[in-house]
Amino acid sequence: MMKYFIGNWKMFGTPKSLSILNKVNYFISRDKNKKKYKVIITPPFTLIQTFVDHFKNKKISIGAQNSYQKEKFSSDTGAISPFMIRSVGAKYTLIGHSDNRKEGDTDKILKDKVKFASKNNLKIIFCIGENKFQKNKKKTFSVLKKQLMNVLEKKLIDNIIIAYEPIWSIGTGKIPSKNELTKSTIFIKSIVKKMLKKKTPIVLYGGSVDENSVNLFKQIKEIDGFLIGGASKSSKKFIDIIKNYYT
Ligand code: PGA
Repeated sequence: MMKYFIGNWKMFGTPKSLSILNKVNYFISRDKNKKKYKVIITPPFTLIQTFVDHFKNKKISIGAQNSYQKEKFSSDTGAISPFMIRSVGAKYTLIGHSDNRKEGDTDKILKDKVKFASKNNLKIIFCIGENKFQKNKKKTFSVLKKQLMNVLEKKLIDNIIIAYEPIWSIGTGKIPSKNELTKSTIFIKSIVKKMLKKKTPIVLYGGSVDENSVNLFKQIKEIDGFLIGGASKSSKKFIDIIKNYYT
């Protein structure tokens, strides 16, 4: 099965940061495992065009971190549509990251974001996850189910990847236990299978993934890859995550 290593740069980077990705690209090009995985980077909007041009025909694909809930052009100041993202050559977009949910993205908005992104042929990395309070109340499964049910539609079958990111784990160094994470991943896969009628849904894990924690995560064969925040800004850490995954 193909694995995914996705680097979410958040609010980080200038054109000079290309040097980080050049090192990652060099590593991949010589890696004996390179056929087994895909590397995708989601830089801020300001860098998409530069990175797409630079990595054309290379090993790194580029995506956006968010995509607006309207299709093409509108009068919403600051908004960037999926049409605009696709027009500069990005192939992927994150949708539903907890940072954006916190800022007001509801399930209804997310459903539109996903719909229009898919219409514009973007592959969607749809982020879901429970917060600490919900986890303590043992509501994890019901929260995840609702987040999926309210947004997914059957016609997204080929365009959607799920990233399970427990909010309490993002940027905190706290990670779920192997048992917990195995169960949630299997649970998410069962829901997606049913909803999309897809035999092999792709489910990634995100939240404090680094060169050390990956050694635990790699033991869970149900996980199809990772959404990596902090550690993706360092070429060394990002490369070590891939290396450690395969050793
Ligand atoms: P983190 O972020 O790896 O820094 O925890 C993950 C994310 O927010 O996607």
